[in-house]
Amino acid sequence: MKVAVLGAAGGIGQALSLLLKTSLPAGSELSLYDVAPVVPGVAVDLSHIPTDVKVKGFGKDDLAAALTGCDIVLIPAGVPRKPGMDRSDLFNINAGIVKALIEGVADNCPNACIGIITNPVNTTVAIAAETLKAKGVYDKNKLFGVTTLDVIRAETFVAELKGKNPADVHVPVIGGHSGTTILPLLSQVEGVEFSDEEVASLTHRIQNAGTEVVEAKAGGGSATLSMGQAAARFCLSLVKAMQGGDVVEYTYVETNSDDAEFFAHPVRLGKNGVEEILPYGELSAFEQKAKDDMLDGLRGDIKIGVEFVNG
Ligand code: NAD
Ligand code: LMR
Repeated sequence: MKVAVLGAAGGIGQALSLLLKTSLPAGSELSLYDVAPVVPGVAVDLSHIPTDVKVKGFGKDDLAAALTGCDIVLIPAGVPRKPGMDRSDLFNINAGIVKALIEGVADNCPNACIGIITNPVNTTVAIAAETLKAKGVYDKNKLFGVTTLDVIRAETFVAELKGKNPADVHVPVIGGHSGTTILPLLSQVEGVEFSDEEVASLTHRIQNAGTEVVEAKAGGGSATLSMGQAAARFCLSLVKAMQGGDVVEYTYVETNSDDAEFFAHPVRLGKNGVEEILPYGELSAFEQKAKDDMLDGLRGDIKIGVEFVNG
């Protein structure tokens, strides 16, 4: 497996690269790209960890070399939020960054699976899809918005509330990745019961968890370590599936369903990315209303991405 991290010198990029250096299967290669001059140093630093994963750093003018031969490309490049900002406030800077990096992917490793982390994910995934279409290499089975952080947060918060081991708690999270578009399906969590008040407060906490971190970091950025863990889990699931394993992850993919063009579903991963988009099952009345109320916003976020590329 050859995996590229674009934005590898950043807060997420460094945490993610460390986890991949220690967890990718033996014989893998890790390609670290960033415009920040520190990136070769990050690669040298990681290369001293004794695992059978080769690490190489690539600076600003070496995107093509970083991407050539990659099976998986993970993109956390771009600016994070500060207190008072919404994820959509990052669009002006991050849209162009994602478009340029995806053009590099299209030119150098058009068959790679791509995981978009850069916010606003609801929109940057649509930008990536339209950019790949313009290059004639779009495969909807190979483009993912990484929403795993919402899942791991939901599992942590439910386990905390109910006194369980988080490893035993599984919480489906569907929709998008901002505010009310993040929809945890607490009615489907096995082995626990919630009161209506608990459902309302847990849902709100999961939807606001990104802001909780942004405020706690007080201007120093957003979630990086938990996001590194979430992206590593997503990448390792993809690797396992590409090597023949049976894996299901919740991720934001093109569904073209009545919900929205892109929507996070449970997805069976396989050798070529999406193997099967699974139904998300029955919703409670609370979840159905929350979904109905957020769909217009999510569709609007997607439209902004489509229009950014196509004018
Ligand atoms: P950061 O500022 O610490 O790191 C970003 C890195 O991207 C920097 O090293 C920067 O040099 C690099 N970069 C900027 N432009 C680039 C380009 N054109 N090519 C390559 N690299 C480039 O930020 P961070 O905390 O790592 O967050 C990165 C992004 O991830 C933000 O947009 C943030 O909102 C998003 N994020 C998403 C999730 C999620 O759940 N999907 C979670 C947390 C953060
Ligand atoms: C998160 O959920 O932590 C990320 O999307 C970063 C943010 O801006 O909240």
